[in-house]
Amino acid sequence: MEIIGSIDQLRARLSSEPDVCCVPTMGNIHDGHLSLVKIARQNAPVVITTIFVNRLQFGQGEDFERYPRTFEDDCAKLEAEGNTIVFHPDEQEMYAEQQEFFIDPPKVANTLEGRFRRGHFRGVCTVVVKLFNAVQPQSAVFGKKDYQQLAIIRRFVDQLLLPIRIIPAETIRAPDGLALSSRNRYLSAEERKEAPRLREAILQIRDWIRSGDRRFVAMEYAAGALLARYGWNVDYVVVRNQRELRRPAADDKDLVVLGAATLGSTRLIDNLEVSAP
Ligand code: PAF
Repeated sequence: MEIIGSIDQLRARLSSEPDVCCVPTMGNIHDGHLSLVKIARQNAPVVITTIFVNRLQFGQGEDFERYPRTFEDDCAKLEAEGNTIVFHPDEQEMYAEQQEFFIDPPKVANTLEGRFRRGHFRGVCTVVVKLFNAVQPQSAVFGKKDYQQLAIIRRFVDQLLLPIRIIPAETIRAPDGLALSSRNRYLSAEERKEAPRLREAILQIRDWIRSGDRRFVAMEYAAGALLARYGWNVDYVVVRNQRELRRPAADDKDLVVLGAATLGSTRLIDNLEVSAP
């Protein structure tokens, strides 16, 4: 497996590769990321995983400094999964001068995650465009775990006519249902036991929707109250339509339940797509 840090070298290396699939990550590779690499391999002969902890998408007081950086380990796992190239630029390479031009996402970026993480999606979209321009892939894989991120990236790629196919990937879970995330490592043993409850609250809403119930506000309230009873600090548990992440209209059937809540000092997110009958 090759490791490349410079954009010039990366472009030189890729100049004669007609089909490249990109897996953008911030490192701390776990089975969730490896599943993205697996999907990328099924889609292209050359897979580039990018590892870059993007300062621009972290708000003040968020975990940019303590975000786990485990580069050696990450490379060993990626190599074992058959990844072709790791693109690992440093801050100077990605932000050689102060970033003054941004991708400014629409209102959906100020809801849900964006409401609690101001500027987050502006930082995500801006770095994703830069990574796309550095790698110039034909396709890229993004996990559904970050559902709002995937929805926003799909739409900006569409609207800005970027010639890149976005491939969504299912969330990978621990046996007890907890969605894999780099942030799970912040949980204490006690919190780790409690953590699957966010998923369970979402599953409960899924079951209600599947049974034909459309009293979404009542469901959201019940799920939030359940989590609060078990000590969670709930940011939201909501039902939205899949494409625009707006409140479902009467005839919307492709729905998604999204939740975000903090346990101790660790903020977890999860979601599940649901087809209403
Ligand atoms: O999902 C992530 O890890 C990040 O938001 C991404 C897409 C790599 C951009 O920094």
